[in-house]
Amino acid sequence: MDATLQTTFLGVTLNNPFLLSSAPPSRSREMIERAFDAGWGGAVIKTLTQVESPARRNVTPRIRAIRNGNHVIGFTNMELASMHPTEEWLADLAAIKSRYPDRGLGASMLYGGRPDEKQWRAVARACEEAGVDWLELNLSCPHGGAEDGGEFAIGTRSDAIRSVVGWVRESVKLPLIVKLPAFSDIDAGTKAARAAGADAVAVINTLNALSGIDLDTWRPIPSVAGESAFCGLSGRAVKPVALRCVATAAASGVPVSGMGGIYDWRDAAEFLLAGASCLQVCSAVMEHGYGIIGDLCDGLLAYLKAKGLSRPADLTGKALPHIAPHAALSREARVVAACRQERCLRCGMCSVSCRDAGFQAIAWRQGEHPRIDRDACDGCGLCAGVCPAGCIAMEPR
Ligand SMILES: Cc1cc2nc3c(=O)[nH]c(=O)nc-3n(C[C@H](O)[C@H](O)[C@H](O)COP(=O)(O)O)c2cc1C
Repeated sequence: MDATLQTTFLGVTLNNPFLLSSAPPSRSREMIERAFDAGWGGAVIKTLTQVESPARRNVTPRIRAIRNGNHVIGFTNMELASMHPTEEWLADLAAIKSRYPDRGLGASMLYGGRPDEKQWRAVARACEEAGVDWLELNLSCPHGGAEDGGEFAIGTRSDAIRSVVGWVRESVKLPLIVKLPAFSDIDAGTKAARAAGADAVAVINTLNALSGIDLDTWRPIPSVAGESAFCGLSGRAVKPVALRCVATAAASGVPVSGMGGIYDWRDAAEFLLAGASCLQVCSAVMEHGYGIIGDLCDGLLAYLKAKGLSRPADLTGKALPHIAPHAALSREARVVAACRQERCLRCGMCSVSCRDAGFQAIAWRQGEHPRIDRDACDGCGLCAGVCPAGCIAMEPR
């Protein structure tokens, strides 16, 4: 069967479902145009905001990689919204759209602190005139104005979501996406956004975090003249949270733009299966650059073909009917650990974990394969998770 990555999201046709999320990779017109030349299906610009207040100036440093050995498992950041004045962005948006009419272009906006109705309305109208395809209302940044009642504090309160979405809805005809905080009640937020006239939900923004503590100075990091602040966590580490949020929002029938730890086509396929209709990426581009779009597209297209499907939308939400309340899960289906010895490194990690956090079901001696006591095994899956060689399978009893 012929397959295509073409995707329609909120009436906009995209060459592929991959968008740059509102973040450093969409910081300027020049960057977005380079990403479009590399093949991205669209972009949401770095959030428009009021840039005049001193508290809105960025601190340095503000981005830190969270590592496991050599691997980046996430980023923490305390970056604020765009420092680029709104008037200049409006001209850039019009220019990008006229040069790349076949790409999706979203304007992210946030007039928080204390939500400023006049600015929400005026900037929404100006973005519509500039020709963007949709607006993304960023109600979810976990730092900056969040501490004084704005930003994510808007997205965690249904009444505040309804007010802001209502103002913008009255002001423009453009499709509206509401970007909700992952640490809020996603179901309630989605319903409030819908009731006020939003067309879609975007999840997730970064998770509220403390990046780390310096063991010599006992001060939090990254250090901004000796002090630090709570920040936002993104990347691989947040993917399971993001999938949960996508599935929760999609369950209420709203179109979802999914993001949070999409690094490769497999991640992308999971987000679609969890209910996303289009996909946004930030951290993977921060780590590897715009060039990942080639592998994302090739991999997803090959997967669609292998599954006999014709477009990404064929995957959207296919996992949802199988997400059940915990109490409804079968207690009859039982599995047991089995070691495929040909792959085993004889490291004993399975045995240590089972001994000290499981059911003492795996015996092991230095240099030997583990021996699994099927009667003692509870089937919890911990040993399979910690095995570095993937040699433990959980088999039906
Ligand atoms: C340094 C940095 C700055 C960000 N700035 C914004 C922003 O201005 N507006 C916004 O809506 N999201 C912002 N985000 C959040 C991302 O758009 C995205 O929601 C989040 O990083 C999860 O996706 P990822 O795991 O692919 O990075 C930012 C993320 C990072 C890492």
